Amino acid sequence: MRPPQSLLVLGGTSRIALATARRLIARRTRTVWLAGRPSPALESAASELRALGAEVRTIAFDALDPDSHEAVLGKVFAEGDIDMVLLAFGILGDQARDEREPAAAVRVAQTNYTGAVAAGLIAARALQTQGHGSLVVLSSVAAERARRTNFIYGSSKAGLDTFTQGLGDALYGTGVHVMVVRPGFVRSKTTADHEATPLTTTPEAVATAIELGLRRGSETVWVPGRLRLVMWALRHLPRALFRRLAE
Ligand SMILES: NC(=O)c1ccc[n+]([C@@H]2O[C@H](COP(=O)([O-])OP(=O)(O)OC[C@H]3O[C@@H](n4cnc5c(N)ncnc54)[C@H](OP(=O)(O)O)[C@@H]3O)[C@@H](O)[C@H]2O)c1
Repeated sequence: MRPPQSLLVLGGTSRIALATARRLIARRTRTVWLAGRPSPALESAASELRALGAEVRTIAFDALDPDSHEAVLGKVFAEGDIDMVLLAFGILGDQARDEREPAAAVRVAQTNYTGAVAAGLIAARALQTQGHGSLVVLSSVAAERARRTNFIYGSSKAGLDTFTQGLGDALYGTGVHVMVVRPGFVRSKTTADHEATPLTTTPEAVATAIELGLRRGSETVWVPGRLRLVMWALRHLPRALFRRLAE
């Protein structure tokens, strides 16, 4: 599959999404929509991508307001074909606080799962109507197995991941490609050196993996790639042992 000419990012300030947009603009992408909560950060992300030569527009999008998603995505698709939708919004939450305050936990679930179900279904239908395109969804290694330290976030990503796999099956053979991306812990540039482990990654590495996954038409992408095997092994460990390892 060729790199997209047009890209819609849901979660327009996400550092992984912006690294991906920069990489795709360097290839072939000419039109970028950054959908997100209005903020100076969203506008400066748009300016940064414009400076790379893309035509960039921003549009207000709130994952926590699923009733508005139809209108927001409808407006974008009405302006022209979208070759790739990158579903990048998400919040980590704060596990300790979220356990104390269920309303905060619900916010994590509603952003990462419910919001993505609404936006994902609407994007998928729009891509199917135009007859081509990719829906790329940022899941997480945390979706693979529950951990004491982040199970609220992890369970929201597990729901998102399962949803995306099923959506991929539903769209198989329609000309629309669905890809789940499972990054490990993503370091920022400033912490890149001292937090590096074989299972951590960077936004730029995720962007590279997404581009490769698109070219291959992959359904699942792990970043770094070795996580696939590591998580396969961890998934089969007895709970008591995993509990101790994951502390
Ligand atoms: N960073 C990691 O270690 C890691 C690892 C695995 C998977 N992931 C996943 O990859 C995705 C992107 O991660 P990242 O590191 O690039 O995150 P990031 O830089 O923190 O960006 C998160 C994005 O989500 C948006 N967002 C949050 N709540 C929203 C809402 N209610 N409506 C619309 N947008 C909302 C934020 O927008 P605002 O600017 O409005 O806040 C921001 O654009 C996330 O889904 C994350 O869970 C991250």
